[in-house]
Amino acid sequence: MDYKNKKIKGVLKQDYQFFSHGLEGVAAFETSISYIDGKDGILIYRGIPIGELAERSTYEETAYFLIYGSLPTKAELKKFSNDLENHISLDTEDIKWLKDFPVAAHPMDVLNTCVSLMSLSEGGDYEIGRESDLKAGIQIMGKMPSIIAAFDRIRKGKEPIPPDNKLSYAANFLWMLNGEKPKEKEARILDLCLILHAEHGVCASTFATLVTSSTMADVYSSIVSGIGTLKGYLHGGANEQVIRMLERIGAPENVEKYLNEATKKKEKIMGFGHRVYKALDPRARILKNYARDLTGKRDEVLFKTALKIEKFMEKKFGPKGIYPNVDFYSGFVYKALGIPTDMFTSIFAIARSAGWIAHILEYRESSRIFRPRGIYSGPVNVKYIPIKAR
Ligand code: ACO
Repeated sequence: MDYKNKKIKGVLKQDYQFFSHGLEGVAAFETSISYIDGKDGILIYRGIPIGELAERSTYEETAYFLIYGSLPTKAELKKFSNDLENHISLDTEDIKWLKDFPVAAHPMDVLNTCVSLMSLSEGGDYEIGRESDLKAGIQIMGKMPSIIAAFDRIRKGKEPIPPDNKLSYAANFLWMLNGEKPKEKEARILDLCLILHAEHGVCASTFATLVTSSTMADVYSSIVSGIGTLKGYLHGGANEQVIRMLERIGAPENVEKYLNEATKKKEKIMGFGHRVYKALDPRARILKNYARDLTGKRDEVLFKTALKIEKFMEKKFGPKGIYPNVDFYSGFVYKALGIPTDMFTSIFAIARSAGWIAHILEYRESSRIFRPRGIYSGPVNVKYIPIKAR
């Protein structure tokens, strides 16, 4: 190639059809899985408002609805729940891996590594297509709660607890985590949290799974991308950071000083703001009520601190459309259920696996590789100088 005489005239803006920093306001594909009306704070899964699903559905039913596109019959739901149960147990090899992980590892990294490990059993024979994608997806959904529960027990020096197949998905997680059968109310609240977190349009982690699957990579790799993306504190990782921020603030009387200083430095306040919602996130509204109900004496000061933050933020940032998002109150609910703070985001990931799988299957039907461009702002026609002459 005659690269020596090839000159670039300059970067042509017309090379780019469209520019949107962080892809704000860009639609890249059609979906019938969920819709967010950010102005009025409405979220629907396949047409049904989230509040109605939270009140009347179960996580297994909602996951089926998202993945298969219609509400299941009794027989379909039973089969789906059985399919999940068939994967929930960890074998001795899985437990051996978990015992080898550093106890200080973050549960999201454990989850990511274990989903990657699951792909090894495919032996490189994964055939991209609905059947393999669904099989892998259901295996991942089934195993995620067991992995996180077992890791928490192992790092505390306890033995993992096998699942009890008579329990629901949410109740089984609490059983495997705590070694005690959860009260009906506790299991139902976790179930509700899983429903609220199961799907949320083209959020960063769902987009990441789709970028990966759009290259015709398998579901394991796609979900690994999703988990990695969810971990960041601007996305799912915020739920953990909210509790840490509240603990740093310590008491309602410290809120004003903390927030004035933080916002002066342009720091983001965890659990507030959203790219799409410019009103209160409907999931935050539901979770706030549960957080209020569940928060006992031990966390009363923390909850009062949260209410004071909300008030301050509403006054200062409400006019800008910044309100609490799903992550602001979810931590209180997890905390009240006895779940350690560093596991909050992995519960989000367990729930969101349904949405990720639904999107992968949907996008596969009209798949096109994602390939945006970056506006080149570097130099052109730079001469190569050999190392000796530099
Ligand atoms: N605290 C203070 N100011 C904020 C916050 C916040 N939490 N969120 C947005 N803003 C301000 C920004 O400083 C910016 O102000 P400016 O116009 O004066 O520069 C304006 O609002 C727009 O903010 P962006 O960062 O451009 O909004 P973007 O859509 O890119 O980011 C995000 C959305 C990441 C959620 C952001 O609001 C944020 O960082 N929030 C805190 C982290 C968090 O709670 N993440 C969880 C989101 S929900 C989820 O993913 C499950």
